[in-house]
Amino acid sequence: MPFPDRVRALTEANAAILPSMLLCDFGHLAREIEQLVEVGVDGFHWDVMDGEFVPNLTYGMPIVAAARQATDLPLDVHLMIAHPGRYVRAFAEAGADVVTFHVEARDDPAEVLAAIHGHGMAAGLACNPATPLSQIEPYLDQCDLVLVMSVPAGFGGQPFDRSALSKLAALRQWAAAEHHVLEIDGGIHTGTVADAVAHGADWLVVGSAIFRSDNYESSVQQLRRTAEPALAARLSTGTQ
Ligand code: DX5
Ligand code: ZN
Repeated sequence: MPFPDRVRALTEANAAILPSMLLCDFGHLAREIEQLVEVGVDGFHWDVMDGEFVPNLTYGMPIVAAARQATDLPLDVHLMIAHPGRYVRAFAEAGADVVTFHVEARDDPAEVLAAIHGHGMAAGLACNPATPLSQIEPYLDQCDLVLVMSVPAGFGGQPFDRSALSKLAALRQWAAAEHHVLEIDGGIHTGTVADAVAHGADWLVVGSAIFRSDNYESSVQQLRRTAEPALAARLSTGTQ
């Protein structure tokens, strides 16, 4: 699979924690990144929103480029934009390692996935809670990662939608998805992380449970401590 070298270690099923930087202090971005590296996060998740695909508007390539200057950890870009195909090259130039976009977006998923690979990045396809997995299935052969949304894309701090769990479990059973990284995004905290991992999540995107806590270290440690038994149990049953 075309995961860039920097990301390869993260492709093992290891309950990786990727902070969603949506809620970080952008006035001190480099310091935020440094603190999170120190507490042992595995990579960084960047939520790009265009005010069209979702009602919220966030940031784009310059923030990813600034983050690239600040860390060698993987940069995982989540595009919640109507026309992801227009920006693949720009995010590659900014230093993204993984680019994920939504199957509900307007562009042809097959073309966008090919473009992401053409720029040397890993390619992910995301689906909102209301979208059935059948919409992702035709493109599984072409993607490295599936992002199962456990909140409707658009905002941090929303409650966890448990329909994501059956999607993760179903993806784990699909032979075509056997080698895919499964990522979950939205409402992950100590009350939901074990279920997410038990049902098959490899990468855990975490926003408010880190940034709305007053101690990054203890929130990351608590998430890890809660996720680890669920991961050990999953691996011992042989369910990837
Ligand atoms: C939602 C974003 C998420 C979100 C996660 O559209 O994709 O990454 O910010 O934040 P929490 O963990 O607060 O749900
Ligand atoms: Zn996200």
